[in-house]
Amino acid sequence: MSNSHLWLICMLLFPLFGSSEYIKLVTSDSLHMNLEPLQSSELASLQQRTAFHFQPAKNWMNGPMIYKGIYHLFYQYNPGGAIWIQNISWGHSISTDLVNWSPLPIAMWPSESYDIKGCWSGSVTMLPGNKPAVLYTGIASNNNQVQNLALPKNLSDPYLVEWVKSPKNPLLTPTPTNKIDGEWFRDPSTAWMNEDGQWRVTIGIERDRTGMALLYKSEDFINWIEVTNPLHSKENTGMWECIDFYPVSTSSHKGLDTSTTGCGIKHVLKSSMFDVLHDYYAIGTYDSDKDIFIPDTDFTTEHSGLRYDYGKLYASKTFFDSATRRRILWGWSNESTDTSIDVARGWAGVQTIPRSVWLDKSGKQLIQWPIVEIENLRTNKVNLHHELLKSESVLDVPGVTGSQADVDIAFSIPNFDKAEILDPTWTNPQVLCSRKGASVGGGIGPFGLLLLASADVQEYTAVFFRVFRNETRYVVLMCTDLTKSSLSLDYDKPTYGAFLDVNPAKEDLTLRSLVDHSIIESFGGNGKACITARVYPTSVIDSEAHLYAFNNGVQDVKISNLSAWSMKKAEIS
Ligand SMILES: *[C@@H]1O[C@H](CO)[C@@H](O)[C@H](O)[C@H]1NC(C)=O
Ligand SMILES: *[C@@H]1O[C@H](CO)[C@@H](O)[C@H](O)[C@H]1NC(C)=O
Ligand SMILES: *[C@@H]1O[C@H](CO)[C@@H](O)[C@H](O)[C@H]1NC(C)=O
Ligand SMILES: *[C@@H]1O[C@H](CO)[C@@H](O)[C@H](O)[C@H]1NC(C)=O
Ligand SMILES: *[C@@H]1O[C@H](CO)[C@@H](O)[C@H](O)[C@H]1NC(C)=O
Repeated sequence: MSNSHLWLICMLLFPLFGSSEYIKLVTSDSLHMNLEPLQSSELASLQQRTAFHFQPAKNWMNGPMIYKGIYHLFYQYNPGGAIWIQNISWGHSISTDLVNWSPLPIAMWPSESYDIKGCWSGSVTMLPGNKPAVLYTGIASNNNQVQNLALPKNLSDPYLVEWVKSPKNPLLTPTPTNKIDGEWFRDPSTAWMNEDGQWRVTIGIERDRTGMALLYKSEDFINWIEVTNPLHSKENTGMWECIDFYPVSTSSHKGLDTSTTGCGIKHVLKSSMFDVLHDYYAIGTYDSDKDIFIPDTDFTTEHSGLRYDYGKLYASKTFFDSATRRRILWGWSNESTDTSIDVARGWAGVQTIPRSVWLDKSGKQLIQWPIVEIENLRTNKVNLHHELLKSESVLDVPGVTGSQADVDIAFSIPNFDKAEILDPTWTNPQVLCSRKGASVGGGIGPFGLLLLASADVQEYTAVFFRVFRNETRYVVLMCTDLTKSSLSLDYDKPTYGAFLDVNPAKEDLTLRSLVDHSIIESFGGNGKACITARVYPTSVIDSEAHLYAFNNGVQDVKISNLSAWSMKKAEIS
């Protein structure tokens, strides 16, 4: 059990190579492999590698932050390259716009008995006086997961190149007394200061299948005492990874510093649920006297649970951007292909486009929207207004580089008479989308976009809506259907789905998709539901990817507005 768990984490961290190293590797290895698949994987590497997504050679991030006007991103990195799970370090890149990135030297690597088997995930906290501090999980020589502190060596250096590990490390260790299992104790959150003037940090554990956000407090950021009650827990949810806990304003889109308290604030608790590999969150109240989080509705991994993304996104983390007063979310989206294919291709895993996050005015869910900076990459705008999208039709949208695009479309529905009745058993949107994919005709919908599509429309990823009648209300289903996304048989092609809390009789149904070679991030209802998909079309070769709008329902719908741009390549080195 515990071995298989570690094995999976290792797989996520499986060392891969930057493309130039990959070329070298191919050369030295080519004697042992036949040339044909090598050539095609090399091609695939070029065609499928993203152009404006942060794609480190390795995978998920640790702690994004802003310091003296510069954004920093730390991520798990294996400088040794091909060696399995050795020397897991903190890679470090910086940016002034969250779009273009430059690498810095490795910030931390295994060097002490408390992290000799890996410097794993952690978070940055800004201490008073704008001093960043990192709490991270080290894998100690006895294989225990322990929590450590590291501080910048030179606060005058805006790049924070050098980091010093605290001589007090490890700060927190699993012991029989604290009943913490050394294999299930990781990923310290960003800390916040409670009204009592003491720091709090939460760390995920699993105890008898109960997932838990353990809470610790400290006056000096070094000596941490476990608070009697966990911040929150839920039986039978398994391990909670990469816990995030932050306040959101009930009246403004602006982000809040993690320590903000007072009225007009709700709190968000997010856990990356290791059992199901999705990021779930709950909105609720932080009772700072009792030191507990009380969710407004059950914090659940059932299909009614709230997710950041109903496609492929895991191990996300937010930070407060004090320069622009935004809370910004980064997720990680792994490949859907076999590890052997990833190795041949030379990379695996991308960061999603950073998203601004705020509380919806309903108070019931979050809204996520790609950061505005990404719009600087837009070029060659294409526009459509008030175009009828007739029943059973496909509309070509020429002039956009289909493999690197930002598409924003708004639909209006002139008449709801043809809406199908929602069956009361259709409670799971993912199942419903799987059953009613893009090729299954309906009353109102499916209508939406065909992305990364081939000219003959044999290969495409469909992102679309269906509208059902549910007693006196309408229910909007948003789906991303991967079943036709590639002629390649090498990866899983699920259909993802979410219900969208919008009333299509009162407002347009909007959809924005960011397309970048092998990733499609879609935002429905102005950011009410997000679906990230990994796809590997063969048509992208030679930039043959097309963009279409389609309607496979009986009811005609109207495109009230469509704007699409080709996207320039970001500078990411
Ligand atoms: C681990 O990585 C660091 C940083 O690149 C390097 O200095 C160190 O020698 C590496 N250790 C091993 C055992 O490879
Ligand atoms: C600290 O960083 C500043 C700015 O880069 C530099 O001028 C200074 O020499 C550094 N101090 C030390 C002790 O390295
Ligand atoms: C990574 O991708 C594989 C293949 O699609 C999937 O089974 C697994 O759940 C993914 N892992 C995460 C953390 O999303
Ligand atoms: C459909 O309506 C029923 C009864 O009002 C409600 O319980 C259910 O949640 C609705 N379904 C959806 C998907 O909104
Ligand atoms: C159409 O979309 C563009 C780009 O999103 C936006 O600037 C414009 O205001 C929209 N127009 C209408 C009529 O909604």
